[in-house]
Amino acid sequence: MLDKYLNRIIQGDCLELFKNIPDNSVDMTFADPPFNLQKKYTSYKDNLEFQEYLDWCEKWIAEMVRVTKPTGSIFLHNIPKWLTFYATYLNKFAHFKHWISWDAPTAPMGKSLQPAHYGILFYTKEAKGAKIYELRYPHKRDRKQGYLLKDYGGKKDGLHPFGPLVSDVWTDIHRIKHNSKRDPHPCQLPLHLLDRLILLTTDENDIVLDPFSGTGTTAISAKRLGRKYIGFELDKKYAEISQQKLEQVKPNFKIGEIWVSFYLKDIATIRNNDWHDLQQYFNIPNPARSIDFQKTTLKKEAVSKQILKQ
Ligand SMILES: C[S@@+](CC[C@H](N)C(=O)[O-])C[C@H]1O[C@@H](n2cnc3c(N)ncnc32)[C@H](O)[C@@H]1O
Repeated sequence: MLDKYLNRIIQGDCLELFKNIPDNSVDMTFADPPFNLQKKYTSYKDNLEFQEYLDWCEKWIAEMVRVTKPTGSIFLHNIPKWLTFYATYLNKFAHFKHWISWDAPTAPMGKSLQPAHYGILFYTKEAKGAKIYELRYPHKRDRKQGYLLKDYGGKKDGLHPFGPLVSDVWTDIHRIKHNSKRDPHPCQLPLHLLDRLILLTTDENDIVLDPFSGTGTTAISAKRLGRKYIGFELDKKYAEISQQKLEQVKPNFKIGEIWVSFYLKDIATIRNNDWHDLQQYFNIPNPARSIDFQKTTLKKEAVSKQILKQ
């Protein structure tokens, strides 16, 4: 039954479309719903009454949990205000893992603290046995001088040559700023944000489902990382844009046989377990402490020209 929905963006209302997806059939679900902030979508009213919005959210959140496999994970992206309600609801029938704080400026709200992060709630369907991998991201450096931003004192010899383990605060992924890089959509997410969630919780050929697909960010990320995808999107135009973009995407975000996330020509995320096999493709500073001012770089011959063009 699921086969006919695989690797497609299906146009329609997610609550209707979810009815076609069997229980326990998908490895990871990610939702980036309308935030009810009066954004200008072409076919959706982003200004429901408070309780009306929450009642609606509870319906599709329950569907996300239902379709997720016992080894699978559920991610919900929103502003903290709504996530507090999502968490209260989800705590009843899924298992809290993390509140990921994605450091990105958000819409100013009232005259108090300026909101500076979006949250991504990370739940697993079952308390035990979920597929979760440790990740690493490149060391953060001063943009002009190239030195490590963090002062590790005398411990530089022991630093991981690629970069630190990813924590639950993400400061290295920026919102799409340039209009040339975005589709005509008010809140398209950066691809390498989705890459990171997909590498965190899925393997090659696993199925990723996004009920609010927009212009296809989750599907594109899944495809380029060798995963299968299902996208639901109410808006015909967004669904068409996604389909056109997906035709150009190849499952090529690899070094050797290892899936990695790229941002432009750099690597944004790797799996910790993959470093053992990946390190042969890198120029690693020697002696180790020179990592303070010298980057670990990808060897030119390591990446196919196809990927470098991205
Ligand atoms: C915040 S945007 C998602 C953006 C997406 N993450 C991206 O990067 O392109 C929410 C999307 O949900 C769609 N939408 C709203 N109501 C929907 C529904 N009932 N079923 C499916 N899609 C819906 C909107 O058209 C909009 O494109």
